[in-house]
Amino acid sequence: PRKIIIDTDPGQDDAVAILLALASPELEVLGITAVAGNVPLPLTARNARNVCELAGRPDIKVFAGCDAPLSRKLVTAEHVHGKTGLDGPALPDPKMPLQDAHAVDFLIETLRAEAPGSVTLCPIGPLTNIATAFRRAPDIIPRVQEIVLMGGAYFEVGNITPAAEFNIYVDPEAAAIVFASGAPITVMPLDVTHKALTTRARVEAFRAMGTEPGRMVAEWTDFFERFDIAKYGSEGAPLHDPCVIAWLLQPDLFSGRRINVEIETKGTYTTGMTVADWWGVSGRPANALFIGDVDADGFFRLLTERIARL
Ligand code: BDR
Ligand code: CA
Repeated sequence: PRKIIIDTDPGQDDAVAILLALASPELEVLGITAVAGNVPLPLTARNARNVCELAGRPDIKVFAGCDAPLSRKLVTAEHVHGKTGLDGPALPDPKMPLQDAHAVDFLIETLRAEAPGSVTLCPIGPLTNIATAFRRAPDIIPRVQEIVLMGGAYFEVGNITPAAEFNIYVDPEAAAIVFASGAPITVMPLDVTHKALTTRARVEAFRAMGTEPGRMVAEWTDFFERFDIAKYGSEGAPLHDPCVIAWLLQPDLFSGRRINVEIETKGTYTTGMTVADWWGVSGRPANALFIGDVDADGFFRLLTERIARL
């Protein structure tokens, strides 16, 4: 199986991404690193463990990482995800332990210990943990197999400001470090995730499984939909973060372009914008595979089939 580390700020859609990974034998989750984002760090570190327990995997190692962006105050998204970050169905306090090590140390030690090019990083929150690890231990950068991240936007522009997507906006300096790192990067921007919509039929398919994970996925999506449908006027809400895991399982569901992406860190109105050179007008070298389209029915078929296994 392909070795991955999920770097996350759960988040209902993060939770679904974690479940998808844990349900998939093609992937070996070496660890889950929590970061501050949708809600503060103590809650994301707790929620990540709740999700592992829900998947029947209390053996997964969960680490707490950075509790604030590199050089800014944390911006959170309780207005989308609720007070706990995982509002919707009530969850008990997790029984599995939080690891003692810091998430950044775990990232550095794991990338040094595993064979070069054998570990894929899956960031689905702000990039603070990854950037901190890269800054502290640049020797790990060439050892990364691939970074597959959810963040940014091009045609779909922003969801937290008119120009910026939440994960990049929260810590643009961290995103700039990661995009300049030279590691191979695949990006799932809003352009893709806004095509992966939780329509009624798709949500009911989760509920109809009659399993605890199926019911949770249905209730989580019900919860954040209330906000997103009103905001976007779409049928269903974008299910952002599971796109990252689906790419690892079935890349033929997606299509995109290798382009140059720079991160705006100093804009008056555009801080956190992913300046994505889709038409190749800048002459700057490509540094990312920017995904633009997804077969949404195929994506939900995969997700439903996998969640049903839990
Ligand atoms: C991203 O922001 C978070 O609220 C979601 O979990 C996702 O990672 C979407 O902009
Ligand atoms: Ca997230």
